[in-house]
Amino acid sequence: MSDVVNDTKIPNNVDLSSDKKLQRALEQWQPAFLDWWMEMGPEGFQKDDVYLRTAISVDSDGWAQFDHVKMPDYRWGIFLADKTEGRKIGFGDHMGEPAWQEVPGEHRNSLRRLIVTQADTEPASVEQQRLLGQTCPSLYDLRNLFQVNVEEGRHLWAMVYLLHRYFGRDGREEAEALLQRRSGDSDRPRILGAFNEPCNHWLSFFMFTFFTDRDGKYQLLALAESGFDPLSRTTRFMLTEEAHHMFVGETGVQRIIDRTCQLMKDTSFSGDVRALGGIDLPTIQKHLNLWYSLSLDLFGGEISSNAAQYFASGLKGRAFEEKEHTEHTALDQAYAMDVLRDGKIAREDVALRNAMNEVLRDGYIVDCQRGVDKWNKTIKGHGIDFELKLPSRRFHRHVGIYSDVGATPAGELLSKEEFARRRHEWLPSEDDQKFIDSLMTKPVYEKGKFANWIAPPPRGIKGLSVDFEYVRHA
Ligand SMILES: [Fe+2]
Ligand SMILES: [Fe+2]
Repeated sequence: MSDVVNDTKIPNNVDLSSDKKLQRALEQWQPAFLDWWMEMGPEGFQKDDVYLRTAISVDSDGWAQFDHVKMPDYRWGIFLADKTEGRKIGFGDHMGEPAWQEVPGEHRNSLRRLIVTQADTEPASVEQQRLLGQTCPSLYDLRNLFQVNVEEGRHLWAMVYLLHRYFGRDGREEAEALLQRRSGDSDRPRILGAFNEPCNHWLSFFMFTFFTDRDGKYQLLALAESGFDPLSRTTRFMLTEEAHHMFVGETGVQRIIDRTCQLMKDTSFSGDVRALGGIDLPTIQKHLNLWYSLSLDLFGGEISSNAAQYFASGLKGRAFEEKEHTEHTALDQAYAMDVLRDGKIAREDVALRNAMNEVLRDGYIVDCQRGVDKWNKTIKGHGIDFELKLPSRRFHRHVGIYSDVGATPAGELLSKEEFARRRHEWLPSEDDQKFIDSLMTKPVYEKGKFANWIAPPPRGIKGLSVDFEYVRHA
């Protein structure tokens, strides 16, 4: 077990105090991070006591502490999963060589790019969610939002540690730039598309934590296989925290569906659930379509020489590379995928290494489907005949093969013009947004109370009751 130091400015298990120069550099970055948090973090709640989980070690039977804390006092720490002695690179051209403890010179730029891209998503999502507290459906949900936010902040710390520790001056410059870009800003946007999209109501928040945080899970799984050992160890621990974010999304959507179905069975229901203050299932489907397709884009192009190079050089593997694959070079193998030839879909073999983005996306889609199946079970359990569906991976894409064409959720190709004309059959319209906004004009701060459009959860956090005061709102 690595030693944990929790009484310094920056809690860590990386023996930070033994490297004074690094410690000083991170201690200088810390106030800039806090300034960013105060400016771009949850607006209107910085003085509240929030019942939060804080990582204090990487010990599998007790890595977290739960307590009421004010968010600016949260102890953002640097924690890497314990080192596996003798770990070897598990795939690609360097397979079988000892994992790298320092950055290999020839892969320095690629590695930095991978780390910066991952890092950039962490503060971006906090920015996207910064106003949501003001319309929270309950204290329970408010706490979950803030839990996700502070942990995305810690993920930023995790990546910034790598940049400072292993990339010298350009790493420090990248760490500064991470606090300067802003989600949705036209001059200095965040790096990836989905992280510049507005996430301004709770249905989007839950869809985001279900679909977009799950992209994060798959990226982290691929990076956890990395031959660069510090990156592997960092991402392995981040995955532990990430699970809760996806829980928030999955159960959040499930509770909205549950409430909608209850309202649809109410004696006063006359065919229009909106009239009863619920979110109708077709509108939920549209938000699913939106956040799922935006998240599919995050995996990158279907055929990608960058992805091939990341794999070849041992920087980014497949999810569960060691557990689920028997052959780890991915050479002389083909992956059959649909491509566009003269405007039509054709099945073609692609060199497996070039298809690594698609391979990762495949695993993601299966994982998403599991959640959607659970949602459908809730609908079915109410005896209502409606099924939510993941749209085709061709639908509403901005990256890769299908970014040049339109497609229906069933995957039939359309011209871009026709797609634009029919867009609101499948994606939220302004009216849909207005309706949802109208449901979420006021926050619910009363203990144990929930907004009308969402069902309470079956149980609270960490064995506490649902009506626990998760946030003491100042
Ligand atoms: Fe994260
Ligand atoms: Fe997350």
